[in-house]
Amino acid sequence: MDCRSDEELFQLVQESKVHTAEGKVADYIPALAQADPDSLAVAMAFPDGSCYSAGDVNKKSTLQSISKVIALALALLDNGEEYVFQRVGMEPTGDPFNSIIKLETTEPHKPLNPMINAGALAVTSMIKGDSVEERLGRIIHLTELITGVEGIGYNKEVAMSELQTADLNRSLAYYLKQYHVIEENVETVIELYTKQCAIEMNCSDLAKIGLTLAMDGKHPLTGETLLPPRVASICKTFMVTCGMYNASGEFAIRVGIPAKSGVAGGIMAAVPYRCGIGIFGPALDERGNSIAGWDLMERLSKKYDLSMF
Ligand code: DON
Repeated sequence: MDCRSDEELFQLVQESKVHTAEGKVADYIPALAQADPDSLAVAMAFPDGSCYSAGDVNKKSTLQSISKVIALALALLDNGEEYVFQRVGMEPTGDPFNSIIKLETTEPHKPLNPMINAGALAVTSMIKGDSVEERLGRIIHLTELITGVEGIGYNKEVAMSELQTADLNRSLAYYLKQYHVIEENVETVIELYTKQCAIEMNCSDLAKIGLTLAMDGKHPLTGETLLPPRVASICKTFMVTCGMYNASGEFAIRVGIPAKSGVAGGIMAAVPYRCGIGIFGPALDERGNSIAGWDLMERLSKKYDLSMF
């Protein structure tokens, strides 16, 4: 599926781009600090196989928290709903994505949902395989399946940079191990989670993830089941309630599209039965969402009447 540059999208990108100056790139993972704060790219993928883009559609970025959706899908396939939701909840937190506070104050001590770091660490630890390599390979394979893109890999520099600095995530994982939500070695789950977050792609591939979810897990052209509809439905529901972290409620009101963000500046969105959207704009707002990407999502939603509410 080639992605054609589109004049209408280009105009919207130009309008949103002014907001990049109000945000800043994530620097708590040192390698992410090298990103160009002014850049903004978008792609929209449609069920008929067409794809339209604006900005640097060939530039790859890491998924970061967007990978939590794929890991959740795989953990559900590996273990079933009951097992997964015995260990991770279904409720939004209202706290920042890396907060530890609710782990202590909630009984039982399990993460409130799979989209915050604590929940994602628990989910990633449920992915089956004999080694980190095998488990990461399975996450990447599922990513290739739902994008229809071969040769997806992870950015080793970003993964190493996070691995060396992920002490907050380590503390979340140790806390979860104490309460048997995580059973395996903490360094093993941190390594797998960090590499999963460093999976990289361009915004048109990101849009294809959104499209597959938008089509209830079916390949839009062949009808082949890439993800069971129930798994796609659970992923999309978490994207609505928790996908933009403690800004998910506001995003639902202003944009009204299931979406997931990541600290590399990505937003992956699934407009039910209509299209998938992929955005990369590394400058973030204070809640960790792409600042110009959010603005662009608002413009797209209004212009093309995409809100599902
Ligand atoms: O675990 C972390 O902190 C990062 N690898 C991912 C966090 C993230 O993308 C949150 N997004 N807004």
